Amino acid sequence: MNNNKLASPHFVVGSIVKGFQRGSKELGIPTANLPQEVIDALPTELELGVYYGWASLNKKDIYKMVLNVGWNPFYNNTKKSLEVHILHKFPHDLYGQEIRLVILGYIRPEMNFSCVDDLIREIKNDISIADKELEKQDVGGYKQNVFLKGIEPQHL
Ligand SMILES: Cc1cc2nc3c(=O)[nH]c(=O)nc-3n(C[C@H](O)[C@H](O)[C@H](O)COP(=O)(O)O)c2cc1C
Repeated sequence: MNNNKLASPHFVVGSIVKGFQRGSKELGIPTANLPQEVIDALPTELELGVYYGWASLNKKDIYKMVLNVGWNPFYNNTKKSLEVHILHKFPHDLYGQEIRLVILGYIRPEMNFSCVDDLIREIKNDISIADKELEKQDVGGYKQNVFLKGIEPQHL
């Protein structure tokens, strides 16, 4: 795995909006989508691809997450998106909740696949990498970062 593409963590905040809803239905891997204005404001140095890090919901509970920022070549999206898979099973959907992300490490570039099963297999592999890396990262303390609890870094 190549972590060189992320010199320092990235912090992102937004309200969860509806995506195309293929994540849950077609892939069995639910994703939380961020609004377009948040994606348009992402720093240009954040390369497209798959990353892992921490997510909080409504400034409370903190979870491991894996995310994809890009164009979903498999689905030929016409707009850039940022979709987060939280490593937790929720009994309900998360629309309208505030999600805060600390993006810590790069996993791979976005890819195209010849069938949906290959896409699913790759995302499952991303999830397993994120799970293992974040066990190590927990020691680094980013899980306790105040940003996840709603205190912006510039206010420190
Ligand atoms: C960890 C992760 C990795 C992903 N990797 C790719 C990828 O390599 N190529 C791609 O076309 N889409 C990728 N996706 C995007 C999925 O295709 C997308 O989440 C799915 O289409 C659901 O989108 P929707 O919520 O807008 O319906 C990835 C998503 C996640 C969460």
